[in-house]
Amino acid sequence: MIVLTVNNARRQVDVPEDTPLLWVLRDQLGLTGTKYGCGIGSCGACIVHLDGAAVNACITPVSAAAGRSVTTIEGLNDDIGVALRRAWISEDVPECGYCQSGQIMTAAALLLQHPRPTDEQLNAAMDRVLCRCGTYSRVRRAIHRAASPVVEAT
Ligand code: FES
Ligand code: FES
Repeated sequence: MIVLTVNNARRQVDVPEDTPLLWVLRDQLGLTGTKYGCGIGSCGACIVHLDGAAVNACITPVSAAAGRSVTTIEGLNDDIGVALRRAWISEDVPECGYCQSGQIMTAAALLLQHPRPTDEQLNAAMDRVLCRCGTYSRVRRAIHRAASPVVEAT
């Protein structure tokens, strides 16, 4: 039995230790907001937070999350999460939406580390999340908007 905290709730799962965290979240816990894209850590669709840092859930064994705190898109309800959601709506970011939880979770980890990221910091963080629909410029505008209460208020 593996015990972990997911979205501030203590959860127990009975799975092999090497089960990818992504399958535990989606199949055991029903948190399907985190998506499967490549399964090899290359696309970023599966990004969640592990103790506040962005990780690829498809290549993270659930044993690595034992005793730690996992946050998924469903649980991203802090000030940064709220600011990002508002900015995403204001900039009308998504197209098909498939990559977007990975984009937002990665952006949230970025803003936690750099509340006002430079373009260089933003690009370095967000380059790990692919978007087949090409929403990159709107993603970047939305992150800057979320990081700027002055812009958000106008
Ligand atoms: S599904 Fe995890 S990085 Fe692509
Ligand atoms: S919005 Fe379609 S893959 Fe990013």
